[in-house]
Amino acid sequence: MGRFPLETLLQRLLSPWGLALAAALLLLVLCLRARRTRRPGEPPLIQGWLPHFGVALEVGKDPIGVMKTLQKQHGDTFTLLLGGKYITFILDPSQYQLVMKNHKLSFQQFSNDILKKAFSIQKFITDEGLSNELHDCYQYLQGRSLDVLLENMMQNLQQVFEAQLFKTTNWTMTHLLTFCSSVIFETTFTTIFGKVVAGDRTKFITELRNDFFKFDAKLIHLLSDIPMDLLGNAKSIQKKLIKRLTSENLAKIQGWSEVVQLRQAILEKHYTSTDFEIGAHHLGFLWASVANTIPSMAWTIYYILRHPEAMAVLRDEIDHLQESTGQKRGSGFSIHITREQLDSLVYLESAILETLRLCSFSSIMRFIQEDLTLPSETRDYLLRKGDLLAIFPPILHYDPEIFEAPEEYRFDRFVENGKKKTTFFKRGKKLKYYLLPFGLGTSKCPGRFLAVNEIKQLLVVLLTYFDLEIIDDKPVQLDYGHFLFGVQYPASDVLFRYKVKS
Ligand code: HEM
Repeated sequence: MGRFPLETLLQRLLSPWGLALAAALLLLVLCLRARRTRRPGEPPLIQGWLPHFGVALEVGKDPIGVMKTLQKQHGDTFTLLLGGKYITFILDPSQYQLVMKNHKLSFQQFSNDILKKAFSIQKFITDEGLSNELHDCYQYLQGRSLDVLLENMMQNLQQVFEAQLFKTTNWTMTHLLTFCSSVIFETTFTTIFGKVVAGDRTKFITELRNDFFKFDAKLIHLLSDIPMDLLGNAKSIQKKLIKRLTSENLAKIQGWSEVVQLRQAILEKHYTSTDFEIGAHHLGFLWASVANTIPSMAWTIYYILRHPEAMAVLRDEIDHLQESTGQKRGSGFSIHITREQLDSLVYLESAILETLRLCSFSSIMRFIQEDLTLPSETRDYLLRKGDLLAIFPPILHYDPEIFEAPEEYRFDRFVENGKKKTTFFKRGKKLKYYLLPFGLGTSKCPGRFLAVNEIKQLLVVLLTYFDLEIIDDKPVQLDYGHFLFGVQYPASDVLFRYKVKS
């Protein structure tokens, strides 16, 4: 006999491939052993076949289809394994209130984990006071402060338009999402954080924007439990961006909004003023202020361009407002529009809400701090400490009993008798919640009024001064890359063209 086969086997096992295979097998065994079994009284448990990731792939491809199928099979409450997390979904709107009131469910604990991973904000975990104080600042996104923000926003829009867009007397062709990203990023950043005083302003905003989009593309990886070494340059992009927003660099920017001034004062109380983490807080706020507004804007223009009947009604509504307030469209930028006047544009608002109904896939998440019993009309469910609980609004938004032909974009869905429509029904009962793109309860988006009004302002400017046409008149799918976190981006960009009205 030649060499003993066991020796050869050992050599093979100790080669890099052999070790990798052994590690993979060990991981598989650990994952399989770690699969949980459903305890009596718990909701139906769906773990899929993939260890750790569970049903993430299926749900990420077709969230509504998969959730509706699971709802048919298991009812309105079930637990899914998604990317290493056990998440119990609540699909019955009559249970939302119970979730919101339960003191064993914490938004803070859920959000601390997200903020740490996405933006490297650590301090909330040890300093609850900081979180409360920053939360109080959100009132400066409403009332009189909102009026000031909107006045500044319109001026900043004017600058963006006068610098670039009014120069185009011939048709100019561009990609829709790229166009919205550029306009919304610059207008929002300058309105909230101000403008650089020295040096090249365009270069500053272009570099910041480019870094921001690189970071946003990696965000979902940062949120996963993938080991840091496998995340490529995600961490270095995050650091670069945080550095751009530290106290020292922010000091080079003039015209901070009230909300930023107050946030900075609070942050300087809780950190030393040179602390890197101050930049991380500003990055988080910047992300919240543009990440959902950009796709919302892009989708709204896309739908309006593909629905000429919507375009005609919206142009009419805007013209009518301008006539009734004595504003004539001159050659330059001359729009002055108050918040009250923006509020009166009910068709425009409906067109935006309809976009949010179709494209927002945010979940309202809570961390389960202690084992608890969740009552329902049919039966009670036991929920486990350490899991997550989620309300999943898209299931409402795509419910044909609430919204007829839910897959269709109907720009006037939220208008009734010339007023905002707020009555929607399910099983004959008037619904308290029918549209939840901005979350619910303590975690409800504090920037929602700014967001909707910003989109309205931009649409008023575009429809007042420009002719717009879609070039790629094709159906565009949603890219579920930000599934569970906000408004989804289009899966592909489309070409459109614009020209200043003669
Ligand atoms: C169409 C645009 C927007 C959408 C769809 C949107 C949606 C949301 C959602 C779903 C949440 C989280 C709710 C939760 O986790 O339960 C949120 C949180 C937040 N949003 Fe927005 N948002 C938008 C625009 C804005 C703007 C323009 C700002 C600010 C200037 C803003 C500031 C924030 C902040 C600071 C939070 C965190 C609140 C907290 O931690 O309690 N958002 N937003």
